[in-house]
Amino acid sequence: MKNIHIIEHPLIDHKLSILRNKETPMHEFRRLLDDIGLLMTYEVTRSLETEPVEVETPVGKAVCNRLAKPPVLVTILRAGIGMLGSFMQMLPESPVGFLGMQRNEETLQPESYYSKIPSAARTHPVILIDPMLATGGSAGDAVAHLQANGVEEIVFVCLVAAPEGVKALNARYPNLHIYTAALDDRLNEHGYIVPGLGDAGDRVFGTG
Ligand code: PRP
Ligand code: URA
Repeated sequence: MKNIHIIEHPLIDHKLSILRNKETPMHEFRRLLDDIGLLMTYEVTRSLETEPVEVETPVGKAVCNRLAKPPVLVTILRAGIGMLGSFMQMLPESPVGFLGMQRNEETLQPESYYSKIPSAARTHPVILIDPMLATGGSAGDAVAHLQANGVEEIVFVCLVAAPEGVKALNARYPNLHIYTAALDDRLNEHGYIVPGLGDAGDRVFGTG
């Protein structure tokens, strides 16, 4: 496996341990996903380019740095919405795109049903967000869709990844960097991440 960045931090581990628990109710699951997303933004955005800018303070002039190109956020529906708010909070200048994808429960293949991508995605870096990387089919097709629409610079952010998904993305996109809070053991026979956290979309939205 390569280009996989596991963001290790005691607070992330602590919050993830509560979030994974099957007894954790929806409202707490949402809040924890949001908290972990906020903590992850710090590492995910570390290599963004900055440019100098002169700022007049009440006391004098300061040469500061600001983002040269605020990234575009793209989230995969539905579960990606659960992590989007934290990234929007830290990157308030970022336009936001959506990709609707639903994994077929029998074939495990993603089916695309919606796309709305900001034009800035062609010139700015894109942060693609989906909490779960299982087989890698959804993330892989999302990257393919973005590239077909002229997007050149993409990083993928998830909460929990399976080795199968990381390997699939590595094989399909050798230069794609993947950020995750946890790399789990494997997929089960239904394509669920083990130990994982169950169905992220269902847990965020109270369905299932
Ligand atoms: C989940 C998850 C990912 C996908 C991961 O979404 O949010 O998008 O499965 O699986 P993969 O790596 O095998 O493609 P799902 O299709 O269940 O849709 P939902 O978010 O609407 O529940
Ligand atoms: N999608 C989820 O929400 N959870 C998994 O474990 C796998 C795919």
